[in-house]
Amino acid sequence: MLDNPGKPLVSVRDLKMHFPIYSGLLRRRVGEVKAVDGLTFDVMEGETLGLVGESGCGKSTAGRAVLRLYDITGGQIAIDGREIGDTPQSQLREMRPTMQMVFQDPYTALNPRLTVLHALVEPLLYHQPQLKRQNAIDQAMAQLLAVGSDAALAQRCPHQLSGGQRQRINIARALMVQPEFIVADEPLSALDVSIQAQILNLLAELQHQQQLTYLIFSHNLAAVEHMADRVAVMYRGVIVETGDVAQILGAPKHEYTRSLIAAVPRADTKLERFTSVDYIEGTTNNFKRIDIQNHWLGETLSPILI
Ligand SMILES: Nc1ncnc2c1ncn2[C@@H]1O[C@H](COP(=O)(O)OP(=O)(O)OP(=O)(O)O)[C@@H](O)[C@H]1O
Ligand SMILES: [Mg+2]
Repeated sequence: MLDNPGKPLVSVRDLKMHFPIYSGLLRRRVGEVKAVDGLTFDVMEGETLGLVGESGCGKSTAGRAVLRLYDITGGQIAIDGREIGDTPQSQLREMRPTMQMVFQDPYTALNPRLTVLHALVEPLLYHQPQLKRQNAIDQAMAQLLAVGSDAALAQRCPHQLSGGQRQRINIARALMVQPEFIVADEPLSALDVSIQAQILNLLAELQHQQQLTYLIFSHNLAAVEHMADRVAVMYRGVIVETGDVAQILGAPKHEYTRSLIAAVPRADTKLERFTSVDYIEGTTNNFKRIDIQNHWLGETLSPILI
């Protein structure tokens, strides 16, 4: 439930993130990748906004850019009324506890040399250097239990954890500094189907308990349908359609959204083949949709569901 459905905690206007392309011996700049090219959206206090799109459409870049992990090419980002789009990195430090990220790959997001306890204590002591170490350890242990992990994991290193355990630790780490706003970049994509539902439920419980605001990037429409209040559909660095989950996934208006929904693999258990695979080409205003019917794979896939 939304605490205050009318007030945006995050406002993003015309956000752009272009990466230069260099070539030749002299590494001359020959072009740029417009990974994010004019994103505009709000995330209301206490809500979950799902940003969906195919691989490479700019989701991870957008997530990092919103939290100013990049120096952005253009646009405005306001978090709780404070404009951070052009704030120098040195001045962003005091804002960092408010906004945290759960990264796409739980395997590389944790420092392999740090134990779980160290990984949880580190951000706390970084932002609150005056805190007593024992106090930080107590808070880390409490957070470990709050995300449903076993206290015995505290002394393990990341390689000694399963994928699901790692993702819980990543979530715990993001929550150590008591943020209001969490960007979760494909929080389920690296996880086994059996663990995905647990992590989804955990995120929902934590949101309820701590009044968190989520911006979730995903290509998993089933997960977004389960979690999000509203959905924005992203294609090649821009948003093509925004609306309530039921409207976007049930009655999409934009051709790209329809293609994206149609592209979710459906298992046809009787015929053991996909009934339809759509390939999407073109530009934001000019879509070319190629339906490939009877695409034999030789095996039945489990439905991609939670
Ligand atoms: N640091 C970078 N330098 C140059 N190009 C980049 C950089 N990071 C991302 N890109 C490019 O930006 C585009 C968007 O990448 P991004 O990782 O944001 O996609 P994505 O939607 O998260 O994909 P996926 O669903 O596969 O994770 C891609 O074409 C990618 O090659
Ligand atoms: Mg990504």
